[in-house]
Amino acid sequence: MDNTANIDWTSLGFGYVPTDYNVRVSYKDGKWGEIEVTKSDSINIHMAATCLHYGQEIFEGLKAFRGKDGKIRIFRLEENAKRIRRSAEGIMMEPLPVELFKEMVIKVVKLNERFIPPYGSGASLYIRPIELGMTAQVGVKPATEYLFMIFVTPVGAYFKEGFRPAKIAIYRGYDRAAPLGTGRWKVGGNYAASLAAGQKAKEGGYAAVLYLDPKEKKYIDECGPANFFAVRDNTYITPKSDSILPSITNMSLQQIALDMGLKVEARPVPVEELATVEEAAECGTAAVAAPILQVDDIDTGVKYVISKNGEPGPVTTELYNRLRGIQLGDLEDTHNWVTVLD
Ligand code: PLP
Ligand code: COI
Repeated sequence: MDNTANIDWTSLGFGYVPTDYNVRVSYKDGKWGEIEVTKSDSINIHMAATCLHYGQEIFEGLKAFRGKDGKIRIFRLEENAKRIRRSAEGIMMEPLPVELFKEMVIKVVKLNERFIPPYGSGASLYIRPIELGMTAQVGVKPATEYLFMIFVTPVGAYFKEGFRPAKIAIYRGYDRAAPLGTGRWKVGGNYAASLAAGQKAKEGGYAAVLYLDPKEKKYIDECGPANFFAVRDNTYITPKSDSILPSITNMSLQQIALDMGLKVEARPVPVEELATVEEAAECGTAAVAAPILQVDDIDTGVKYVISKNGEPGPVTTELYNRLRGIQLGDLEDTHNWVTVLD
């Protein structure tokens, strides 16, 4: 393809690389308008818009891949469409129809085709849908006007360690979400709430924060940008909690684990159980499946060594390979997770 963007695909991190177009649609007078395609990467916003003052902002994250056959594949388009509707309903925003979401994603991916990293590069096209409350008002109530936009950007690994096991930390003085709060939705404010602990982790040389349940601090919740899973006795174990984001990657890995003949347990996971697990990883669209080397519980001083030999475990490796294989089209998409573009 001579129209490929001039990018060093193999050295991409997880940052913002400008692309050619983004797509937008506005909700006004009780209805969604037409899709607008633009080259501008800025927006015009009223200073009293609800997204700026009262946090009416939600987003998504999904990926498109280029296969060996040259075809473009989008992973779990429908699930992301459904989840951003739940996020919208959660904080009283207008949910975007699933079909419109799909049309916008497909359009923006095709328009920026030259930014889809080549097969074999390890990189992918990250798709970032965002919805904003736009009505100018100072009263604390939902907006009546919304802007939904989607941009894309090519990305490499989210964690600099890539698939090398990394250390993560528990800071008991911080929560990212309340027990029955917004943790189950992809609301921008959750990420603001995670920044301070995230900064501590970075300074301490940790790849991420592992949050405990905010009610009792007894159970594992999730990481700042990803869910958590562990493996023991041929079982995939993952936390069930009202304050975590239902990860679409985790949902997919649970199915892959079943396909591999593992048992799956989604249940409260006491933090002490970390002492007994054979493998653990963070999972998410950006993180994929990032193996965990060790978990340090900073305030209690307990250190859980997960990977005894410093290598990714065999089950995590197989889960990762199967997930990537389906995303890239190397393995059969038996569960219909992939939208192949023509
Ligand atoms: N948990 C949080 C807090 C996240 O931000 C993400 C990223 O989207 C995930 C989990 C993983 O979710 P998914 O696998 O749907 O990307
Ligand atoms: C994702 O995995 O898509 C995320 O949103 C995680 C992070 C970049 C916020």
